[in-house]
Amino acid sequence: MADMLQIRYPATGVEAELAITDATIKAPDLRQFRIGEEPLATFDPGFMNTAVCRSSITYIDGEAGILEYRGYPIAELAEKSTYLEVAYLLLNGELPNPAQLADWELLITEHRMLPDKLRTVLAGFPYDAHPMTILMASVAAFYSFYPDARNFEDPAARDLNIARLIAKMPTLAAFAYRKGKARPYVNPDDNYGYCHNFLAMLFKQNERRYVADDRLVRAMEVLFILHADHEQNCSTNAVRSVASSGNDLYTSASAGIGALHGPLHGGANEAVLKMLREIGSVDRVPEFIEGVKAGKVRMMGFGHRVYKNYDPRAKIIKKSVEDVFEVTGVNPLLKVAQELEKYGLNDDYFVSRRLYPNVDFYSGLIYEALGFPPEMFTVLFAVPRTSGWAAQYQEFITDPEQKIMRPKQIYTGARTREYVPMEQRG
Ligand code: ACO
Repeated sequence: MADMLQIRYPATGVEAELAITDATIKAPDLRQFRIGEEPLATFDPGFMNTAVCRSSITYIDGEAGILEYRGYPIAELAEKSTYLEVAYLLLNGELPNPAQLADWELLITEHRMLPDKLRTVLAGFPYDAHPMTILMASVAAFYSFYPDARNFEDPAARDLNIARLIAKMPTLAAFAYRKGKARPYVNPDDNYGYCHNFLAMLFKQNERRYVADDRLVRAMEVLFILHADHEQNCSTNAVRSVASSGNDLYTSASAGIGALHGPLHGGANEAVLKMLREIGSVDRVPEFIEGVKAGKVRMMGFGHRVYKNYDPRAKIIKKSVEDVFEVTGVNPLLKVAQELEKYGLNDDYFVSRRLYPNVDFYSGLIYEALGFPPEMFTVLFAVPRTSGWAAQYQEFITDPEQKIMRPKQIYTGARTREYVPMEQRG
C-alpha cells in the first residue's frame, strides 16, 4: 500500500490523504484544500524544501558531507579519473571504457576551435570587461553559429552540441583571459589533453612549446572534477528553467553562467580572495571574526545551503593547495585562511549554525598561485560546470514529467485601482 499523509483542515472539516512518494508529496495535491476561495499552496522562497525534478546524476548528503556523481564517490573520481572521463560519466551514466574514452577525447579535441567570427565579437568588448560577461555573451552567441542546437530532441544533434560546448569552453575562457591581458590568442594544441591544453592557451608566451608541470595539470584536473556538477544549485536551476521554455543548450548554459557569476554562488571564490586580502594578516583575524558575528560581514567560502558538514570538495582542494604550492611557492594568504578556518571550526557562532568551509574557501588561493587574477576565478568554475549543466539539460529535455517552470506568487499589492490621469497626480 502506498505511503499516505493524512491532512485535516479544521476550518472546513476537509480531510484528505496525500500520497507520499520518494519522501515528497505532490504540491498540486494540496489544491483540494480551499482557504477561502484560494487553493492551498506551499510558500518556499529559495526552494528551501521543494524538489523540482527526479535526477540520477549527482547525489549529495549534506548532513554527512557526501558527494557522488552517478554513484561514484567524489574523492575516488578526483584521485583516479580525468575531467573528461568524469564529464562522460555525468552525461552517459557510466565510466567510459578505453575505446569510448578515446572517441570522446577525439570528439572534444576536434571541436576546440572557436568560430572565426566570434573573434570579432570578442574584440567588441571593452578591454576591462569582466571575463564572465564575455563568457555569458559568447556562449549565448554560439546559438547563432550552431542553430542546429534547436533540434535538441534529436539525440545526435544534442550530443554534438554538448560536445561542442564542452570543447569550446576552455578556449573561450582562455581568450577572455588573454583579451584582458592584451596578449595574442593561443589556439588549441591537439597534442594536449583538456586541462594541459587549457593551461597552454592561457599561459603560453614566447616559448616554442608550452609544457605545464604535471602537478599543475593534475591539480587542474582535480579542480575541474570537483566543480563538474552539484545537483540542483542556483546555476543548474537557471539552466533547467531557461531550457523549460524550449531553449537550446547554449541559451540555457548562458543563463547558468549568469547565475554562477553571483557572489553567493560561483563568485564566492573571488570574494574569498578579496576578504583574505582585506584581512591581510593573521593578527587581524579575531577582529574580522567579531565583525562576522556582529552581522557586519559574511565569512566568504563558509556555509552552504546543503552541506551542514565539511564540504567534501573542500577537503580534496586542501590537498591540491599543497601540491600547487610545491610548484608555485606558498601564497602568504594561506596562513590567514588557515587561521579563519580554525575559528570557523571552533567558534560557537559557526558551530551552532553548522557553517563549514565550502569548495570556494581554498580554490581561490590555488587560482591565485597559478597566476589568475580574481575575475577569472568564476570562469574557472564555469568551464568544468559546463559538463554538469549539459548533463542536467539532457536529463531535463528527456524527462516526460517536466514542464515550463512557472512558480506561484503570493500577491501583496493593490487591486483594481481607479486610474489617475497625469494632471491629477501629485
Ligand atoms: N558567514 C557568516 N554567517 C553566515 C554565513 C557566512 N558565510 N553563511 C550563513 N551565515 C549565517 C546567516 O547569517 C544565518 O544566521 P542567522 O540564522 O543568525 O540569521 C545562518 O547562518 C543561515 O544562513 P542563510 O543565509 O539562511 O543560509 P543559506 O542556506 O540561505 O545560504 C549561503 C547559503 C548563500 C552559501 C551562505 O552560507 C553564504 O552566504 N555563504 C558565503 C558565500 C559563499 O561562500 N558561497 C559559496 C557557496 S558554495 C557554491 O556556490 C559553489
